[in-house]
Amino acid sequence: MTIELRPLRESELREADGIYRRAFGTLRGLADPLTFDGDAERVRCRWAADPDAAIALLEDGVLAGTNFVSRWGSVGLFGPLAVDPPRQGRGLAHPLVEEALRLLDRPQVALRGLYTSVTDPRTVGLYQRHGYWPMSLAVLMQKTPVAGGEATAGFEALSHLSPDAQAEALSACRELADQVFDGLDVTGEILSVGEQETGDTVLLREGSRLEGFAVCHAGKGSEAGSGRAAVRFGVVPSGEGGEERLRLLLEAVEAWAAAAGATVVTAGTGSGRVGAWQTLRAAGWLPFLQGVAMHHARHPGYDIEDVFILDDWR
Ligand SMILES: CC(C)(COP(=O)(O)OP(=O)(O)OC[C@H]1O[C@@H](n2cnc3c(N)ncnc32)[C@H](O)[C@@H]1OP(=O)(O)O)[C@@H](O)C(=O)NCCC(=O)NCCS
Repeated sequence: MTIELRPLRESELREADGIYRRAFGTLRGLADPLTFDGDAERVRCRWAADPDAAIALLEDGVLAGTNFVSRWGSVGLFGPLAVDPPRQGRGLAHPLVEEALRLLDRPQVALRGLYTSVTDPRTVGLYQRHGYWPMSLAVLMQKTPVAGGEATAGFEALSHLSPDAQAEALSACRELADQVFDGLDVTGEILSVGEQETGDTVLLREGSRLEGFAVCHAGKGSEAGSGRAAVRFGVVPSGEGGEERLRLLLEAVEAWAAAAGATVVTAGTGSGRVGAWQTLRAAGWLPFLQGVAMHHARHPGYDIEDVFILDDWR
């Protein structure tokens, strides 16, 4: 058996998408595993966001598994990790995890994290073998129906700004994320939803000051799927007033999602982010999926009381 690891090619996206759906759909026990995730296109979106960080594993020349690395400045994630069901249980996950760690082995990456399910003990065991440790409960919440209409606060979608204003907003987003967690930078995600037209970045402002932003997907072909919107990342400044700022950001996200035709919108947080969790619940968001956030070398990360980050690490 020969194993080859290399960046996933565009010509392989269809097959990679099939592996992803077969792996997760089989895990969920779906009658037709290929229906997993509906018309959302997580594999294509992750590949397009950073093609060099999309990992293909070939067994004897045949695509057998994939993994996708997200590089958010000082935060490095990977997933979804999938091995084609007929090829599972033969050790193929290990090289896919090792390759992700190799891509994240950069001086600026402080926190290496991942989301995994707690129902399958194999995955926590697998990641522990590679230095990850379960740190906190990761929760995905949803709001449905999505409240349309005008958000009370001033909000804008990045794509509606002039090129100069977009460049300014991008650097303000970078500054805000960095201020909340040193080196955190989701510029790649922001640019990717814009370029792929799979979503937009919702900006919350007070006067000219950026008070928060959320990188959102919506609709068919995005990471959300038809009739749905999903916050991949969102943040407001920490400290006093954080709850209120997050409430306004959620309102803005809902208004954007409704305009994008979504009836459901999702966002994630962690059990350490008490204020963020409570703000989501108070705004009518309900948990629909819970898993575990694992951190490499038990890095403390940003899952702490005073941090108002929304993230979906799946
Ligand atoms: C999870 C997945 C990627 C693993 O791929 P795989 O090729 O079957 O895994 P491997 O054969 O490389 O085994 C990986 C490790 O899992 C762990 N493991 C396997 N069975 C286990 C069990 N019953 N209990 C605890 N740990 C177990 C072990 O650490 C094992 O490595 P080891 O046998 O060398 O110690 C694959 O099953 C898959 O695609 N599942 C569906 C999608 C999914 O769940 N992805 C991960 C979500 S975060």
